[in-house]
Amino acid sequence: MTQTGFGIDIGGSGIKGAVVDMETGEFIGERIKIATPKPATPEAVAEVVAEIVAQAEWDGPVGITLPSVVRGQIALSAANIDKSWIGTDVHELFDRHLGGREITVLNDADAAGIAEATFGNPAAREGAVILLTLGTGIGSAFLIDGVLFPNTELGHLIVDGDEAEHLASAAVKESEDLSWKKWTKRLNAVLEEYEKLFSPSVFIIGGGISRKHEKWLPLVEIDTDVVPAELRNRAGIVGAAMAVAKHLAP
Ligand code: BGC
Repeated sequence: MTQTGFGIDIGGSGIKGAVVDMETGEFIGERIKIATPKPATPEAVAEVVAEIVAQAEWDGPVGITLPSVVRGQIALSAANIDKSWIGTDVHELFDRHLGGREITVLNDADAAGIAEATFGNPAAREGAVILLTLGTGIGSAFLIDGVLFPNTELGHLIVDGDEAEHLASAAVKESEDLSWKKWTKRLNAVLEEYEKLFSPSVFIIGGGISRKHEKWLPLVEIDTDVVPAELRNRAGIVGAAMAVAKHLAP
């Protein structure tokens, strides 16, 4: 019988969930997406999560991503989400809404990292790897031979006087209407700083913008290899399902 799991990815605009084939990392059936409630308070979001799980008729363990630092199953930051998440016991929250099942909550980029290391670009499995997700913010996952060091938050590192994610996220490219050339110049400055501090063997870039890598990857000029992630927007859901299945609660 196929091993299955269930992952939920909580994002700024949508909350998405799907049943995951744990042997292949593919979805089984449809991905369910419901718009993120406004304001996206913990209670409102947890109600949507419960609705997705109910719609999928899933009664097993559930892994959930959050764009926040999660330590000891407490959310500790809220850069691009409602500030009321800070200090929330996310295990208690989702347990109350999804009752009587195993639940694991982890950072969204960390989820993408563990999924990529298992099912995505083979480069993610070897050596000291930094995976970055470029979306509303910049998320990061540090991996050593595929094993995660959680909650690294490189998007908030100061580069040229500003937070990296305020310079070079995909959302900033959009809101400031930057050309590929201008945006990649900023990304390059961010990657150079990360390279200087951490000397990874490779950078893997995920998030929606990795789909258009032919536009910007040739313009990146750093010494370290930079490669696109392969799982793209599947990564969060798959990583969440893996985290709960493998008991990887940060
Ligand atoms: C948050 C991270 C998150 C990233 C991507 C950042 O603003 O601080 O926790 O991983 O955005 O969503």
